[in-house]
Amino acid sequence: MKKLRILVACEYSGRVREAFKALGHDAMSCDLLPTEQPHGNHYEGDIIHVLDGWMPVDFTSDCDPEGDGWCQTRDCDIDTCDCIGPTQDGYEYKYIEKTGEMFGRPENHPHWDLMIGHPPCTYMANSGALRLYVDSKKENGIDATRWKNMEQGAEFFKMLWSANIKHIAIENPIMVGHAKKIIGVNQSQVIQPWWFGEDASKATCLWLKNLPKLKETNRLPGDNTTRRANQTASGQNKLAPSPDRWKERSRTYQGIADALADQYSSHILNS
Ligand SMILES: C[S@@+](CC[C@H](N)C(=O)[O-])C[C@H]1O[C@@H](n2cnc3c(N)ncnc32)[C@H](O)[C@@H]1O
Repeated sequence: MKKLRILVACEYSGRVREAFKALGHDAMSCDLLPTEQPHGNHYEGDIIHVLDGWMPVDFTSDCDPEGDGWCQTRDCDIDTCDCIGPTQDGYEYKYIEKTGEMFGRPENHPHWDLMIGHPPCTYMANSGALRLYVDSKKENGIDATRWKNMEQGAEFFKMLWSANIKHIAIENPIMVGHAKKIIGVNQSQVIQPWWFGEDASKATCLWLKNLPKLKETNRLPGDNTTRRANQTASGQNKLAPSPDRWKERSRTYQGIADALADQYSSHILNS
């Protein structure tokens, strides 16, 4: 089987990355935060550094400091490590002086085949649309800081959407119209976790480039009015306020991660 090169942008959970890896593909996640599933292929840094197919290079001094053949960075035997290393034939390299980081990519397959992106939605979600206005009232006019954040969020999304990658899927909640206007493209479909065996309600939009709509894999009984395990009786999210609430809420559901990996890798391999 041909191995696909897959970038999972803005993912700390490692769920989508590991789902593709389980199918035998070369998948790397990237986030400003560390990955929750360590020893996987994760770049902790700005997506802009890796968008063009680059992968970070680990130096031997970091990964095998004791010289005993055991990679400390990825916790594996150095001979089976999937790190590309700084001096392989058939690879091209770039060095970013500002961060002191080195990146490489294969010369005969420089770009990612597919990117799945989960850009931040805090200021773009339709559920928070009123907060773009002073004291959440339209008649008070816009909250300039929040509005600017919304515009920057939309520009970031647009940058991912315009990447030089043939197949792209970007996930976000239902989006406020002003952000959509900046992005200039409508979502391709709206899915629900309960279509994928997850007892949860969360309208999730997918923007798809050169990919078919995601097909449901295990639809649970009920409909959009059915209360799910993540909801209160009035339909709000159950999680109590906490500093980590956003993180708990934004992890990709495993059923959706598995469907993305299964359906999109076979689509690309068969097209
Ligand atoms: C809504 S969360 C997505 C979480 C994802 N669904 C998961 O399961 O891990 C958005 C993520 O984008 C990351 N992020 C924001 N700006 C970024 C950048 N410039 N480069 C890489 N990641 C970035 C944030 O750190 C945050 O973890």
